[in-house]
Amino acid sequence: MQNRISITKSKKTKIDNVDFNDLGFGKNFTDHMFLADFKDGEWQNARIEPFRNFDMHPATSFMHYGQAIFEGLKATKNDKGETIVFRPDMNIKRMNISAKRMAMEEFPEELFFEALDKLLTLDEKWIPTAEGTSLYIRPFCFSSEAVVRIKKSESYTFCIILSPVGAYYAEPVSVYASEKYVRAFPGGTGFAKAAGNYGGAIAPIEEIKDKGFDQILWLDGIEKKYVQEIGTMNFAVVINGKVLTADLSEGTILPGITRDTALTLMKEMNIPFEERKVSMEEILEASKNGTLEDAFGMGTAAVISYIKTIGYKDTIIDIPPVSERKISTLLREAIIKQRRGLVEDTHNWIRKVNPVLA
Ligand code: COI
Repeated sequence: MQNRISITKSKKTKIDNVDFNDLGFGKNFTDHMFLADFKDGEWQNARIEPFRNFDMHPATSFMHYGQAIFEGLKATKNDKGETIVFRPDMNIKRMNISAKRMAMEEFPEELFFEALDKLLTLDEKWIPTAEGTSLYIRPFCFSSEAVVRIKKSESYTFCIILSPVGAYYAEPVSVYASEKYVRAFPGGTGFAKAAGNYGGAIAPIEEIKDKGFDQILWLDGIEKKYVQEIGTMNFAVVINGKVLTADLSEGTILPGITRDTALTLMKEMNIPFEERKVSMEEILEASKNGTLEDAFGMGTAAVISYIKTIGYKDTIIDIPPVSERKISTLLREAIIKQRRGLVEDTHNWIRKVNPVLA
């Protein structure tokens, strides 16, 4: 199934306008984008075009009802100068799980890999190489039928854009465990990477910003006791030498690929961990009795990000200084090495981009 993707090259590159010493996150975009349309019962017109704005009918249904999903993955260069992508098979699988939950059309895995190969080959020079940088890959899909009716759309657009990025969080993050707002409950869309799961975090984040917090730590929707995840990443604490993170069984947590990578590496490094319900009371108690050793977030964008403080009710729980964070530091370094292809790929996590453009 080669050559299913037509390519129209950009006449001019924008790369000289980008300050690669100050990338930030997600504000610069490369010269090309991948697009495909679902129409008449099949994916068609797979193509790479110069990066451009969309022209849309005002009734395009995702803008009204939020039938939109996305993914995030990263490309880097290995020490041979080859372009590598970390666990893209997991992203397309999760995207198709999200698609199913949102009554959208699944996207063919092989076409996804071919799209990555071609897009990353075309925009290869955009892959930053400085420490802590990468080329963030954002696949997304939305219902594109122009109809003001709530129903399964007849048409969808699948798109991949690329953005050279630095750290999502340059500093340790302060989170607030809110009893007021809820992200997910059993039967909802919590396990899907659906746009609305993230849009719903913005108002709570705005509210807690004034109190000095950066992000929301979501609690379960029923008892408002158990930690779920942070607005941008999965969450873990270390109590008495053991890593604790929410289990996925209720379908309320995003099954993070960095989360899965971290758990796999912990098993291999003999770091004890448990996936189970973790209550804020347990974290508070551990903080009081001196057994709360570490807290961190796990995500593609965020990698492993240190948590500085956790706010809960009127209490601020301080996590020990970064210099004392053995587990999150170990995991952070191990994951970065895996992602950059600096260690033997015993898990088959690295996909080398096939640089064939024809
Ligand atoms: C990612 O980590 O790639 C995500 O999609 C999270 C997003 C909130 C930046």
